[in-house]
Amino acid sequence: MKKVMFVCLGNICRSPMGKYILKSLTNDFIIDSAATSTEAVGDPLYYMAKRTLDKHNIPYDNHIAKQLTKDMYDEYDYIIVFEDYNKECVKRLIGDDSKVIKLLPTNIDDPWYTRDFEKAYQDIYDGCKELLLNHVI
Ligand code: 4NP
Repeated sequence: MKKVMFVCLGNICRSPMGKYILKSLTNDFIIDSAATSTEAVGDPLYYMAKRTLDKHNIPYDNHIAKQLTKDMYDEYDYIIVFEDYNKECVKRLIGDDSKVIKLLPTNIDDPWYTRDFEKAYQDIYDGCKELLLNHVI
């Protein structure tokens, strides 16, 4: 099975949302998520991300934020990010960004800062649908 890793800044909002949304759409991949920063390492899924997933009936399990490592980067087939800044951070952290794919052509703004979790959900859902429909993954 191909492996898909969602990567955002903190790993408590967008990347776990991506993981759980894509999991709800397909069983064809091994899916995980990680952060470029250490800001929220060890933290659970942010409560507003949980609330938004609940609203859309997307199941989630115990999530503990972790930072992306070189081993994870090497092991996964696709590294999916949400904005240009995530890609820059992957390049800085890992030294490579050749397998990084931006989920949408536009940036998906960080809901940690915008507080608009519904917009983030809709963008991430649309992006996940596109990944599958367009056979990007
Ligand atoms: P995320 O949002 O990258 O979508 O998980 C953030 C969550 C936490 C922080 C930054 C971004 N933080 O600095 O703690």
